[in-house]
Amino acid sequence: MVAVAILAAGRGTRMKSDLPKVLHPLGSRSLIDRVLNSTNAIEPSRRLVIIGYQADLVRESLANYPAEIEFVEQTEQLGTGHAIQQLIPSLQTFDDDLIVLNGDLPLMRPETLTLLLETHRSKKNAATLLAAQVPDPAGYGRVFCDENQILTEIIEDRDCTIEQKQNRRINAGAYCFRWKDLVQVLPKLTSNNDQKEYYITDAINFFDAVTVMDVPDYQEVLGINDRAQLAEAYSILQNRIRDRWMKEGVTIIDPASVTIDDTVKLEANVTIEPQTHLRGNTEIKAGSRIGPGSLIENSQIGENVTVLFSVVTGSVIHDNAQIGPYSHLRAPVEIGAGCRVGNFVELKNTTLGERTNAAHLSYLGNATIGNRVNIGAGTITVNYDGVKKYATKIGDRTKIGSNNCLVAPIVIGEDVTTAAGSTITEDLPNDCLAIARARQVVKPGWRRKDKAES
Ligand code: UD1
Ligand code: CA
Repeated sequence: MVAVAILAAGRGTRMKSDLPKVLHPLGSRSLIDRVLNSTNAIEPSRRLVIIGYQADLVRESLANYPAEIEFVEQTEQLGTGHAIQQLIPSLQTFDDDLIVLNGDLPLMRPETLTLLLETHRSKKNAATLLAAQVPDPAGYGRVFCDENQILTEIIEDRDCTIEQKQNRRINAGAYCFRWKDLVQVLPKLTSNNDQKEYYITDAINFFDAVTVMDVPDYQEVLGINDRAQLAEAYSILQNRIRDRWMKEGVTIIDPASVTIDDTVKLEANVTIEPQTHLRGNTEIKAGSRIGPGSLIENSQIGENVTVLFSVVTGSVIHDNAQIGPYSHLRAPVEIGAGCRVGNFVELKNTTLGERTNAAHLSYLGNATIGNRVNIGAGTITVNYDGVKKYATKIGDRTKIGSNNCLVAPIVIGEDVTTAAGSTITEDLPNDCLAIARARQVVKPGWRRKDKAES
């Protein structure tokens, strides 16, 4: 069964970063995570990752990867060929094909790797190489082949003559080898080149009939060497994700201003307005309209919900709720069906029952609020004494007047009304009116003495 090896030992000097290049995030996943995922369709029997620069960080980042990974250390990074040489002890008894991928190749489609393996096997090749015609080949190794797609030579960009650099067919950094044959040529590598490194591409040059398989969509083979290429990859990834959802029946009003993580799930007939960003494990059901100007992260949104100019994290929002403009829902939050949460309302660790409204200028924290409750404008749960947080409970159909302070811990019953401006410090039973404010005093004819004469 095929094995996979990923080259991830390099620092990625051109990123100008202490973080190893393969750990840079591309959307919601690191480069290495994406490369590994692209190999799942071929069901590798073994996954080997060659690590070196900040090896422990790379190891840690993959600690929870859902399949077993074998790490192989390359203590000195002497080139991609040298990296492959490090596999020899681990693959001593291995007798099948090995797919080798650069760790900075995050946009490869799984289907392409499946095709690479099929081509390699059907032609009974010792080595097969992925290539593509790219608009800007600068920096890549150039692939020269004959009319039968048989490789004549790969030459690294820095070792090319000006004429050779005109060739826009580049080496993708993805290969399939018959391992037993690769092992034979690995000891023959020399570092006789501009970088004084051992190149895997030289190993390939040793093979007799190497098939060059061209990838039609050149965007798949973009290698990430610097931050500009990382940004380019992000925009390619976003195009793919948005196109996919639009094909599934999602309306995206202004795609270029919208970003969607590849972990997000949307139903048909969702509408995404401009300047909206959907992240993490977010799911949105049919008929909902999100944005403009909203950020939704790790949240479940039901049917026919609207979210306008708001930030929503770690929240569950049930059907027909209306959020915003300018609401901030901070995990964990649950909003019942048909609720309205409006202008400058912040919720943290709070549950609203069904058809409850908090429409203006409120902070509700550590609160459990029932059905059909109305929270008056400017109401605050006073939930924090500087050390601990305390809970507020409000029963069904209760109406909290404007500008109330609810000093937690506090339990307010059902069908309660509180007067505007109240500071509620004691629990309230069901069916009552509570007024907790100083009575207004009016002194007719009163003036300040020093002003009386002027
Ligand atoms: C490499 C290819 C080039 C190809 C390009 C595709 C070689 C010599 N060149 O160039 O033909 O067009 O990829 O993107 O292979 N790495 C190690 N150990 C090392 C050196 C590198 O594990 O000692 C890893 C890096 O972490 C990286 C990968 O190998 O993930 C590729 O290395 P990089 O330096 O990016 O190679 P390129 O110069 O891009
Ligand atoms: Ca590269």
